[in-house]
Amino acid sequence: MDRLVSISRAAKLVGVSRGNLQRRVQDGELESFEGQLLLSDLARVFPDATLEDNTMLEKLERIIEHAAIKARNRTTSLPPDMETLAARVNLLTEDLIEAKLEISIFYNIMDKLKARLNTVSRAHPQLSDSLRDLQAWLLQEIESVSEKKMEQFPLLTTDNILRLVAAQVRIEPSGHEYFVEGSNSILESGLSAGLALNYGCSNGNCGKCKARLLSGEIKKIRTHDYVLTEKDKLQGYFLACSNTAVTDIIISADEAGSEQDIPLQTFQARVRKIEMPLPDLCVLNIKTPRTQRLRFLAGQKVKLETPGVGAMEAHVASCPCEDMHLQFHLHRDSHNPFTEHVFSHLKANDVINIEGPVGHFVLREDETNPIVFIAFGEGFAPIKSLIEHAMTLDVTEHIDLFWAVTDNHELYMHNNCRAWSDAFERFSYSPVIGGNRDMLANDVMQMLSKEHPQLDGYHFYIAGPDKEVAAMQSALQQQGVESACVFSDTLA
Ligand code: FES
Repeated sequence: MDRLVSISRAAKLVGVSRGNLQRRVQDGELESFEGQLLLSDLARVFPDATLEDNTMLEKLERIIEHAAIKARNRTTSLPPDMETLAARVNLLTEDLIEAKLEISIFYNIMDKLKARLNTVSRAHPQLSDSLRDLQAWLLQEIESVSEKKMEQFPLLTTDNILRLVAAQVRIEPSGHEYFVEGSNSILESGLSAGLALNYGCSNGNCGKCKARLLSGEIKKIRTHDYVLTEKDKLQGYFLACSNTAVTDIIISADEAGSEQDIPLQTFQARVRKIEMPLPDLCVLNIKTPRTQRLRFLAGQKVKLETPGVGAMEAHVASCPCEDMHLQFHLHRDSHNPFTEHVFSHLKANDVINIEGPVGHFVLREDETNPIVFIAFGEGFAPIKSLIEHAMTLDVTEHIDLFWAVTDNHELYMHNNCRAWSDAFERFSYSPVIGGNRDMLANDVMQMLSKEHPQLDGYHFYIAGPDKEVAAMQSALQQQGVESACVFSDTLA
């Protein structure tokens, strides 16, 4: 029997993005059966997918290493516990028994068929040649099926390992899929996968992460105070922050489909670290309280305020998947008392008020098109958040970053971008250093045209000062790019 696997699982098995597989389905290279792919088709299209070079196995090593470090640090995240592993081994064993049973039935039928053919052949000698041919054909077919099975062997083995170390979650009605590794909660794994799940406290107190189990098995990993009624429990409701997935599960849960679905939030957070990569630019790292994380979409802004001093609006430069950790890139403005305060007085552990999020510069829902990100100077902040989010979602086929500045040293996170380039095959980074601010958009356009003579099918996300963003929009328009494919935001 051939095995059907979800697109998320298939992407892990052959080490490509989900976007890549979705594109192949659209192009007819792979056939989809209600969102699932056949392992035999995968083996045909990716004949070189082996156990040795599979990214899933690298990830498995990282999970084990990570789990070991966490265990040493006595945190709550551990590799799958014995009970979970036993349940998963049990499921694999059931599959194995079923497969063995099918094989023995199959061989039984084959033996009976051979005996029957021999009987018919003896009774009707005039048919014996044809029946012998038929037998030879049958044996050949069986052999070719076995050979095909061997081609799938590396994928089948990897899939079985994946089934042991991680459980797959499918969310209804969106159809989003992700994996829960170790004993992580269903909520934190979803957030790490870049999904905008509904939540509040992350520790079982608020009830905002309430979801409904439609199939599969879950397990409580934390006692919680939020009381689910008996009726809730009978209907399959559970708290995503307080449970892990034992087997593959399907749940119904609330997700933000767009920025309108995320409420305005107000809370206090503390400064974790302040760095000054440039004399007039500071990278401010903030940690939110455990019980109040900021729900936002990559590319959005918040208001930062120090009571009695002042406030400013700033793009969040970190990915929503970073949970309690927020990052901002703030430019010094001598007319703004808040930035003066940040540069001169603010220190670790100080309190900052946060209000937000606002803004519409977010990834289009389920963005699968290849994306070109263009940052002018400090417009890099929202672009960084969007890139990290797009990488986490793993649906985009290819990501390009053009970071345009007037001087080399303004590439204040150049090494960060190079690290992305080294780590992600589908990411390319092009710094653009132009001497003249007025010509920067032209410089980007020239480099972009060299790298991508054809701009059809790309989506463009641009951020930076008004003037550069407007010049870039018009340069793209002149190249025939439709405005519906261009999204932009300007710095405050
Ligand atoms: S996020 Fe508050 S109970 Fe789960």
